[in-house]
Amino acid sequence: MGNIRTIGVLTSGGDAPGMNAVIRSVVRSALYNNIAVKGILYGYKGLLEKKYRDMEIRDVSGILQSGGTILHTARSAEFREDAGVEKAKNNCLEMGIDGLVICGGDGSFRGARDLSLKGIPCVAIPGTIDGDISCTEYTIGFDTACNTVADIVDKLRDTSQSHNRCTIVEVMGNNCGEIALHAGISCGAEAVIIPEVKHDLERDVHVKMQDAIRKGKTHFIIIVSEGITGERAIQRKMDAFQLAEYIEKKTGVQTRATVIGYIQRGGRPSTKDRVVGSLMGNFAVHLLKKGIGNRVVVMKDNRLMDYDILEALEFKKTIDFEALRAFNEIR
Ligand code: F6P
Repeated sequence: MGNIRTIGVLTSGGDAPGMNAVIRSVVRSALYNNIAVKGILYGYKGLLEKKYRDMEIRDVSGILQSGGTILHTARSAEFREDAGVEKAKNNCLEMGIDGLVICGGDGSFRGARDLSLKGIPCVAIPGTIDGDISCTEYTIGFDTACNTVADIVDKLRDTSQSHNRCTIVEVMGNNCGEIALHAGISCGAEAVIIPEVKHDLERDVHVKMQDAIRKGKTHFIIIVSEGITGERAIQRKMDAFQLAEYIEKKTGVQTRATVIGYIQRGGRPSTKDRVVGSLMGNFAVHLLKKGIGNRVVVMKDNRLMDYDILEALEFKKTIDFEALRAFNEIR
């Protein structure tokens, strides 16, 4: 493999706070190492349309503390087809791109693998609020999203307490319950309902609430993952509002539901997301500088390392059952 003179950077899939830290770090690390950078706009879609801009130091100033992604993001159906990947490869060659850094979820990893197999070295960085990527202990955006959720649930608790109500809070996470579990622990919820567990609402909500009522509790927070009640849930039986009706009927406690939604995707990235994003961006550039592609940067035992993307996609995601067990003791 020849010298890496120019790399591209793009963000793909749902945006996540901390993606700008990745972009800033990739640009600054590359320029430091005498590598030019092209910022691809709108993810793989932009790569197919050759939408990019040359990135200089000033293009990434003042972005570390802002949410979203200055390069924009998109989901591309065309890129999922082989013809799309071939076109993207040819566009990279025409644009003089010798390697690519891609920050996004596991859908984006598949794209990075396909493009690497066509000869364009790609390094993927896990960026999604969902915390649902199996090969890494951390995904950029997760911490900020959890802090946003905690802030909102604290506010909901105020009104729930004033009215002696039960409050159902639906959080994001796709079909992964990590955000919900963290919210349950950090906000002192009564119950957490997540897709990784086969729930029995009678046992997991009604009985728990009755038990708490006997002990004198007058208000309740129940966190439910969108993987149970959201539109895209794999086994959706009811939405958050129907769940509220069910609980009110069962327990006699007045119940309200709040679906937090996209607020979880925005906002100033937390320190953790800024730091991890910056370090992963730098790590990715050094892999490409050595001519190494088809890798994903991961956090393992609190340290950065890299895996082959094919290998990384084989990992099976599971929830932290030890944390779930602890939650059930301390709730
Ligand atoms: O992956 C991030 C995420 O916000 C999920 O939590 C959610 O299910 C999904 O993206 C929403 O996607 P879209 O932006 O396409 O509506």
